[in-house]
Amino acid sequence: VVLNYRIIGNPGEHNLQLNPLEAMRLAIEIAKKGTGFVSPNPLVGCVILSSDGELLAQGFHERIGEAHAEVQALAQIDDPEKLRGAHLYVTLEPCSHQGRTPACAVKLATLPIASVTYGLKDPNPLVSGQGAEILCKAGISVREMPELKDELEDLAEVFLTNMRSHRTFVTMKVAASLDGQIGLATGESQWITSAASREHVQYLRGAHDAVLVGANTFMRDNPRLNSRNTLFAEKEQKVVLVDPSGRTTERLIESELLKVRPMSSIFLVTRPGVKLSNHFDSIQHLEINEQDGILPWPLILAKLYENGIGSVFVEGGAYVYSQLLQASMVDRLFIYLAPKIIGAKGGLSWTQGLKIDQLNQALQLRRIHTRTFGPDVLFTGRFLAH
Ligand SMILES: NC(=O)c1ccc[n+]([C@@H]2O[C@H](COP(=O)([O-])OP(=O)(O)OC[C@H]3O[C@@H](n4cnc5c(N)ncnc54)[C@H](OP(=O)(O)O)[C@@H]3O)[C@@H](O)[C@H]2O)c1
Repeated sequence: VVLNYRIIGNPGEHNLQLNPLEAMRLAIEIAKKGTGFVSPNPLVGCVILSSDGELLAQGFHERIGEAHAEVQALAQIDDPEKLRGAHLYVTLEPCSHQGRTPACAVKLATLPIASVTYGLKDPNPLVSGQGAEILCKAGISVREMPELKDELEDLAEVFLTNMRSHRTFVTMKVAASLDGQIGLATGESQWITSAASREHVQYLRGAHDAVLVGANTFMRDNPRLNSRNTLFAEKEQKVVLVDPSGRTTERLIESELLKVRPMSSIFLVTRPGVKLSNHFDSIQHLEINEQDGILPWPLILAKLYENGIGSVFVEGGAYVYSQLLQASMVDRLFIYLAPKIIGAKGGLSWTQGLKIDQLNQALQLRRIHTRTFGPDVLFTGRFLAH
């Protein structure tokens, strides 16, 4: 069943009957509406069905600091009597602690609802299971729904990685020819993919906390790296430059990057001891110790997370792509393949620095989705151990 929140309209208007799986799928879909605005919180959706399975309300976590999904859904119910015997479906275990907003489990425990079905346990070991316990003690039937585990984990992937690994979630975006070239060795790379693909990239930039590039991509392309999608017009557009010697600062003042954001939205990652002039007083300068001549990605990603970046959208270049893959630090890949062939001789391969000696060591993309954008094909999926 493919449900789309847009065609449902006002809950209660259509007497729509949903079964538990449909209710959770709807909760997953509506949760996605918070994309780009909830960090460091997870995307969460909630659906409430009446005692006989009719859709009563739906809600999602819209913005950091604002109401949680459960509270949003409850706010749509005018008559509390409708909640008698109702069933609530929520993509993540209701929270048990007072954070920016009051604890949802405590609020739900006061209501005459019959059951709460949640998608994933709270990954924070300090609170995991406690929301469920509060509800059970109040006599509410509580169930975890394992059936949609992959979809639920994909929905909460940034939050799960942040919580489990204490580092920034990495999404890699590649625009390549059919034979895997991302440009010419001469540096020419604009444009390999179609305008439709590039428009989708604009959305994805806004969906992440920051866009990250290596020093050469900044120096060669002088990109803006902001999202021109109107959804994100008001959002702070952060950029991370990985540049051990700080050489990008020679061009930064006059760059396109600074035409569309303040200096304070730029994170410059260098080795220790790089001195910056007072023009760069407001830049976010992060220093990382080198190991074997490179800045180790696990340290970069842990430091970015400490500095409030829950997810990065990596836009190149070949060196950064290869290093990240080699370090097994890529969580999700978006690769747009254009129906063109460039050839390895004059081209620049996005995996040029990746060394695989045996086929069974090949990196395997899982939970794949494909989509077309004009003539291009997009593959997206996760690099997971199994
Ligand atoms: N089609 C596409 O999707 C796409 C996307 C982006 C870029 N591109 C193209 O790719 C080309 C640039 O690729 P590239 O491989 O030359 O360069 P790059 O990956 O953009 O930058 C590489 C440089 O960044 C620094 N760096 C990055 N990560 C580092 C780390 N962990 N440790 C140490 N240093 C690190 C190093 O600077 P130092 O040399 O100072 O040590 C390194 O030489 C451009 O021509 C661009 O147009 C294509």
